[in-house]
Amino acid sequence: MAARSQRRQGPPMMPVLHPRASACAKIILFGEHAVVHGQPALAAALPDALRLEAERLDDPRAPLTLDIPAWSLSLSLVPELEHPVARACADVLAHCDGPLQGWAIRGDASIPAGAGLGSSAALTVALAKLALGPDAAVEEIVEASMVGEQVFHGTPSGIDSQVAARGGVLRFVRGAAPVQVALPRPVTLLVVPSGHARSTAAEVAKVHLALERWPTLARPMIEVLGRTTELGERALLEGDVARLGQLADIAHGVLAGLGVSSPILDELCGVARAAGAAGAKLTGAGGGGCMLAWPAGDPTALVAAFDARGLSPLVVEVGR
Ligand code: PMV
Repeated sequence: MAARSQRRQGPPMMPVLHPRASACAKIILFGEHAVVHGQPALAAALPDALRLEAERLDDPRAPLTLDIPAWSLSLSLVPELEHPVARACADVLAHCDGPLQGWAIRGDASIPAGAGLGSSAALTVALAKLALGPDAAVEEIVEASMVGEQVFHGTPSGIDSQVAARGGVLRFVRGAAPVQVALPRPVTLLVVPSGHARSTAAEVAKVHLALERWPTLARPMIEVLGRTTELGERALLEGDVARLGQLADIAHGVLAGLGVSSPILDELCGVARAAGAAGAKLTGAGGGGCMLAWPAGDPTALVAAFDARGLSPLVVEVGR
């Protein structure tokens, strides 16, 4: 807030963007959905998953443009455009007192969009950084990102924005300051995009419905998910992959019971386990999106099992 209120004092100036900014993507290791209902979640960052560059347009009154070829995204911030990405971007820039005209932004992304890896948070965080500059406080960046995330997802817990802005491995409880978890050594995991699109808001609504219909069942299930986060953090700190795998299997079963898995995610978890993974679960909102698996050792056989199905697994080192 400090930087914004300072800019508001003094003579009016043309808002500008900084030349470049980047943001992390995220993998939720444990606690997705439960985090919406007050339980802890654990997430790891994929550094520099989105890089944005801003350039002045010759015409300072031309609408701001945003192009991210990897996401097939190309739009201009014309007021009449009813596109959620345009609305979210305009809201983030307006929140940061940034320009809505006279600039072209181009992005380079190393993760797919809409796959549960936090692409929207990466976009809104990187945009906020372009507008607020390199010295902005991380809290200010997260606050601006949340303005856009609300356009995309309704009432998100904020975990995606926190990881996109801060990086590292974070333990997060809604409404509290996130805690960085320092791992003694990196741990390898596999993330497999299913290629099936889904809506975070729709999956979050399914859990709300389960809580309304079956409160005495769904509430303890949410608490079990919170417990997998706590035990998962301990296992991660100890590098105990066997336990991480078992906890992932438990978490996936509970998430499936709450209705947020899907045939493809169940199938991918089965493929991972059959190829020797210590365990597997959906990651993110579910419904489609991505699966994560903890390899029991060398991940080569696991990668080959997904390659053979024409999927593109990502081997990720958490905590590097
Ligand atoms: O939108 P995704 O797939 O990155 O998942 C968001 C995580 C949820 O816990 C499902 C929702 C939230 O707001 O935390």
